[in-house]
Amino acid sequence: MIRLDNLTKHFPGLERPAVDGLSLEINKGEVCVLVGPSGCGKTTTMKMINRLHEPDEGEIYIEGKNTREINEIDLRRRIGYVIQEIGLFPHMTIAENIATVPKELNWPSEKIKKRVNELLELMGLKPAIYRDRRPPALSGGQRQRVGVARALAADPSVMLMDEPFAAVDPITRARLQNEFLRILEQLEKTIIFVTHDINEAIKMGDKIAVLRKGKLVQHSTPEELLDAPANEFVTQLVGRNRSIKRLHLIRVEDIIAEDFDKYSVKLDCSREVIEEKLTKSEIGALMVVDEQGCLVGRVDNRSLKKKGDSSEELYDEIHDQVTADSTLNDSLSVMLESGEGYVPVVDEKRGNFRDIITLQDLLQEVRNEDEQ
Ligand SMILES: Nc1ncnc2c1ncn2[C@@H]1O[C@H](COP(=O)(O)OP(=O)(O)O)[C@@H](O)[C@H]1O
Ligand SMILES: [Mg+2]
Repeated sequence: MIRLDNLTKHFPGLERPAVDGLSLEINKGEVCVLVGPSGCGKTTTMKMINRLHEPDEGEIYIEGKNTREINEIDLRRRIGYVIQEIGLFPHMTIAENIATVPKELNWPSEKIKKRVNELLELMGLKPAIYRDRRPPALSGGQRQRVGVARALAADPSVMLMDEPFAAVDPITRARLQNEFLRILEQLEKTIIFVTHDINEAIKMGDKIAVLRKGKLVQHSTPEELLDAPANEFVTQLVGRNRSIKRLHLIRVEDIIAEDFDKYSVKLDCSREVIEEKLTKSEIGALMVVDEQGCLVGRVDNRSLKKKGDSSEELYDEIHDQVTADSTLNDSLSVMLESGEGYVPVVDEKRGNFRDIITLQDLLQEVRNEDEQ
């Protein structure tokens, strides 16, 4: 799908090339993550693919076609680019920002409007609310989503994403990563994703390409990278305790047992039943679910001090949860943030309660990996 053939790029004043003899093949539908320390040539590589920089040597092929032979308009349609630091135009509305490429391609205005609304929906931003706002009125996470929507606007087959989630806090970032992976399942896209964060690379990549000083050091699956680092540089990058790194690779849904009965009560559950069930709960709490099975709150011994005879009257709000497609590391971050030794797991589509994941579960996974 994408083939980089021996790419080299020099900049005046640098003693070595910014990118040095880089060859890489990315299959259709794959997420390839370029990872490496600052200055190793990641952004320069992206800009060459997009022809914002011309390589000094080497060729780039997209779907078998040399990019030198693709005209600029066509290239813009085929490649969506999420630039580092998001780069939204602050004086333009969200809708105008997303419409940038379709406008350049002279789409009719009705078609642009429809596409913008569709993308806002896809990103979980209500068009009626967000279309006409400007970037400074949005949170960091929302701006990142708009940056992704803008790159997707003309439905390119290739997406270049340069540190797309770097500017937000870790919990928001984890949420954006999961959302993005979910969106990708619906859209057949080939992605080159740049990060300097090895954990993000392990989580997001089908393949990881490690760069150092403009050169490719290793190109493999995340599993292979953890199991067989090519050299000392990669070993340092992934860290010595690789079983802990695997927390970024394992999804919650792979280890939960769907114990929703053991840990949950319905809204109409009586105080007596709650008291009885609480004595058996290993986490000292029960999740309260509505008629549809959606998580609405929790009860523990403290909530029982309130007046009331059913979970509906007793429950406390719940702020921390993870979706089943989150990684074990995402769950650990949420536990550290909430200060609880567990976190409820919900279905990513409907919010149905599925199970509890505890710190013990995570430790057990690390031990299992160590034994293997
Ligand atoms: N336009 C430019 N002019 C001169 N040097 C540049 C230019 N762009 C990047 N560089 C240099 O090239 C090297 C690689 O940069 P870059 O590709 O941005 O790294 P990364 O994205 O991996 O942090 C760095 O040493 C950087 O200073
Ligand atoms: Mg960069």
